[in-house]
Amino acid sequence: MAKSTRFQELPLGPRPADTPIHRWLYDELRRAILGGRLKTGARLPSTRELARQQSVARTTVVAVFEQLLMEGYIASQVGSGTVVAGRLPDRFTAAPRAGTRPVAAPARAMPSAGTAAPQLSLPPPESGVRAFRLHEPGIDCFPVQKWAQLAARRLRLSPARLLGRGDARGYAPLREAVTSYLNTARGVHCDAAQVVIVSGTQQALDYVARLTLRPGDPVWLEEPGYLGARVVFRHSGARLVPVPVDQAGLDVAAALQREPDPKLVYITPAHQFPLGMALSLERRLALLAHAERRRCWIFEDDFDGEYRYDVRPIGALQGHDRCHSVIYAGSFNKMMFSSLRLGYVVLPPALVEPFLALRSAVDRYPPTLEQAVLADFMQEGCFDRHIRKSRALYLERRDALLAAGTRRLAGLLDLQPTNAGFHLLGALPATIPDQEAQTAAAAQGVEVTPLSNFYLTKPAGNGLLLGFAPVGVGAIAHGVERLARVLEKFPGARRPAHSASPLKKARKNPI
Ligand SMILES: Cc1ncc(COP(=O)(O)O)c(C=O)c1O
Repeated sequence: MAKSTRFQELPLGPRPADTPIHRWLYDELRRAILGGRLKTGARLPSTRELARQQSVARTTVVAVFEQLLMEGYIASQVGSGTVVAGRLPDRFTAAPRAGTRPVAAPARAMPSAGTAAPQLSLPPPESGVRAFRLHEPGIDCFPVQKWAQLAARRLRLSPARLLGRGDARGYAPLREAVTSYLNTARGVHCDAAQVVIVSGTQQALDYVARLTLRPGDPVWLEEPGYLGARVVFRHSGARLVPVPVDQAGLDVAAALQREPDPKLVYITPAHQFPLGMALSLERRLALLAHAERRRCWIFEDDFDGEYRYDVRPIGALQGHDRCHSVIYAGSFNKMMFSSLRLGYVVLPPALVEPFLALRSAVDRYPPTLEQAVLADFMQEGCFDRHIRKSRALYLERRDALLAAGTRRLAGLLDLQPTNAGFHLLGALPATIPDQEAQTAAAAQGVEVTPLSNFYLTKPAGNGLLLGFAPVGVGAIAHGVERLARVLEKFPGARRPAHSASPLKKARKNPI
């Protein structure tokens, strides 16, 4: 790695009044690295020195360095301190070229009726939340009273506006609130004109598939990966190309060998579903470079980016996108409550009008009242509070599941620590096939989800996903006990061996 100058003199931009200090410092350093002002190998000053230069607390600088380290922008080197990481492709560290072409405007696909599609098995709505339901947030921490107050006030104040026909893009104040949230909290670069309110990620996937894919078009999908995406792409007649994931996320090199010219890539970069790793910076940049070269779309599903425990959230892939290839989607259904059915999609400019035209042809728009209440909820700070509160609650539940599972399930289901999301993944011994474990657990009132469900090809893993977010600590303990009894009955099941608390490991080794 080339030795180069320290950057004591590097001027950082002024901090906007409404930007927290850590966010500003993180953004400035990241911008300096990606913009090439801080070159590969450049040594950063010590945290103490930088804190002194910028008149900020040293703990803030330490937290920012940790974040940049985790995301791969900087590296720690014995003897030479902290340096700018060495594997950023030049093209991404250079200033954007004036002539960078956006991805081509969409080709409208023929929807293909009758294509055999895998079934999504969602539990029936009346069957209350049981341990360990997947895909559900905890509704017990949702501030229902506040929501009711805001809804009543809205209806009193502006019924005419709310009861008339809505806007195809979504309720404008909600789009503004989402835009500002995404720019500050998720590192998404967008303006409100690119933001469309949808009923959730599923709807965004459906519209995007209809707009961008023709039957037979190749689509890269993470393997294992999210069934909701697979179902949509299969319905559209696309050719599904499963791409293995490893510790650094989607294996871009393996994908290129399988299919070098995808029309679309579906990915969960902040927290791979269902395995849980983050897409490394190197892979992020390789993927974006490929999308730019081959002019394909990337669908970024940021389904639980807000829920990272012990560590700061990982920024969106969309924030690195220089040629408008990334379609970014997020869901309030996961952050608030499942039946809300509101989410958002950030579209590259070329897709906005086609998206709205399609929407108007096949649907009308999400209910304005809920959108208006949600906009108020965000503007009054209730949303941020709810995220903070639910994050703390889920952390407690994750810890409870990890602790109880380590005590009672070791050797039967080895739970892997996670620093994010709504579920834990556990590895089963070969003597307990995950599909059979699910059936046996269901008979005892315990809901678990087999890992093998999420593979398109022969499953490479035998395990169970256990949702913890909607389950109270008491129910977690009971669920673990019942699950242990179920698994112990399998012939050849191993008895638990004592193992060390994985909580410490979770903090040290975020997945
Ligand atoms: C990977 C993934 N993406 C997206 C979603 C959210 O989809 P929707 O907003 O349609 O409810 C989920 C929900 O569980 C999910 O697991």
